[in-house]
Formats: sequence, C-alpha cells, structure tokens
Amino acid sequence: TDRYAVIGNPIGHSRSPRIHRAFAASTLQDLSYEAILSPLDNFSLTVAQFFAQPEAKGLNVTLPFKEQAYALSEVLSLRAQQAGAVNTLMKGKDGRLYGDNTDGTGLVRDITQNLGWQLANKRILVVGAGGAVRGVLGVLLAAQPASLSICNRTPAKAQALAELFKPYGHIQALAFSELQADSVDIIINGSSASLSGESLPLARGILAANACAYDMAYGKKDLPFLAWAKAEGAQIQDGLGMLIEQAAESFFIWRGIRVPTAKLLAEIRTEL
Ligand code: ATR
Repeated sequence: TDRYAVIGNPIGHSRSPRIHRAFAASTLQDLSYEAILSPLDNFSLTVAQFFAQPEAKGLNVTLPFKEQAYALSEVLSLRAQQAGAVNTLMKGKDGRLYGDNTDGTGLVRDITQNLGWQLANKRILVVGAGGAVRGVLGVLLAAQPASLSICNRTPAKAQALAELFKPYGHIQALAFSELQADSVDIIINGSSASLSGESLPLARGILAANACAYDMAYGKKDLPFLAWAKAEGAQIQDGLGMLIEQAAESFFIWRGIRVPTAKLLAEIRTEL
C-alpha cells in the first residue's frame, strides 16, 4: 500500500486526510493517507523519516512548513518556483524529491471550472501580499487577465510581489486609496483579515457591474469580505472549492488520475 500524509504544525484540524481518503475510495486506489505533526524545529528530519519508509510516495505540506519544503525539494516545478513554497512533495522513481505547489491551480480551477467565472481578459484585484497570495499569482497571470492588481495593508509588500511577478505578466501594486470606481471584475481576498473576522478598507463602488468576489478563506461563519462584496452587488464564493481542487491536483500529481470533486465538495460543505 502506497503511503501519503499531510505534515504541519498544528495538524489536528487538517481536512486533507478526509479529502484524500475520499479521493482514493472513489477511484479505487489502494493507498493510506495520514496526518503527521512535525516539531517546529525538526521538519526536515520528520520528512526524511517519512520517506525512509519504502512505501512512502508523497506528502502534502501545510503551515508553517511550505517554505522549508521548497528548500528541501531537489526538483521544483515552475508553479513551486513562482510560489516560493511547496505544498506537494513526491518521491520520484529516480529517488529524488519533487516539489510542486497546487494552490494556484486549485484556485483557478475552482473559479473557472466549478464556478464558471472567466479570468481571461478580466480586471483582477487580489487583496493581501503574504504567502497565500504569492502562492497563486503565477497561475492567475497564466490565466491571461486583462490586468492583475495587488492591494495590501502594507503597500511595500504588494510592491515587492508585483516586482517579483513582472516577468510573468501584467501586474501592478495599488494602495487601497488608489482603487478606482468600476475598475474590478474579479476580486480575490488572500489576506488573513477574514480569519480574524476583520474587514478590509475597501471603498464602495470599486467593483464593476457583474463582478465576482472570491475569498480564499472558508468556514462556518460568514466572511466579512464576502458580506461587503455581496452588498456591492457581486456574486460571491468562499475558498472551500479551492481546498478540494488543490487536493485533487496533488492527487493527480501522485496517482495520475483526475478525480471528480463536485460530490465531495458538497459533502464537506455540510460538515463545516
Ligand atoms: P498567509 O500565509 O495567510 O498569506 P501572511 O504571510 O501572514 O499569511 O499574510 C497575511 C496577509 O493578510 C498580509 O497581506 C497581511 O497584510 P500585511 O502585509 O499588511 O500584514 C494581511 N492582513 C492580515 N490581517 C489584516 C487586516 N486586519 N487587514 C488587512 N490586511 C490584513
């Protein structure tokens, strides 16, 4: 039986075992998937111990280890290079450790395929400039928006990300106060303001007609960002689909199978 796991600290609340076991069951794959709590100061040893098992094939990596997983990887995908972070490790047939990042692909797949929102030729605004946002910018640019803007409480961090991603497409940093009326078709919240229940300094009227708003966060409670967007007339969605789709992309990397996600997404929605 091939072995997989998610590794993080804390790890108790991770939904990855639930999701990947469901994927394995629905595709008749014989595999195990566990949760591993890594000591904060011993990530690389914990990873080495896992992969020392002959049946160990892959790991998902979550907070706060995605940058360390990037550093440990012997081969990096373009997505992982752009993200500067790895959420999916795979032991290759050649014995090397491959690092990938499926977060951006998960986000774009949820938005374009599950929700049917178009990204190409749209004016996208991303709010936040932390690790979560860096993880998705490369894949968002690859979707060929008309423009991609980043807005952050600390403007210098948005500026730095815009510089970093310039080689990959049309990207600019803006201050919240610089956002123009009617200027945004798709707004994506990747800041952690939602998680702490705080609202963002977004002015009224910045969204264009028929705008769509996506929060990368999810949970039982209403997210303040989505409440704002709804009041502005936007179509809204939380990030639960991104969670399932990034997992489906990891599963594809490991098993070579594209697993259907709709039924599981609906089930997990009821479990929140
Ligand atoms: P993550 O891994 O979730 O990206 P992070 O790297 O700490 O976490 O980044 C958190 C992001 O949320 C940052 O962009 C942060 O803004 P700052 O760069 O100014 O710190 C943003 N953020 C967190 N709380 C916020 C709040 N209350 N209002 C606005 N932005 C907030």
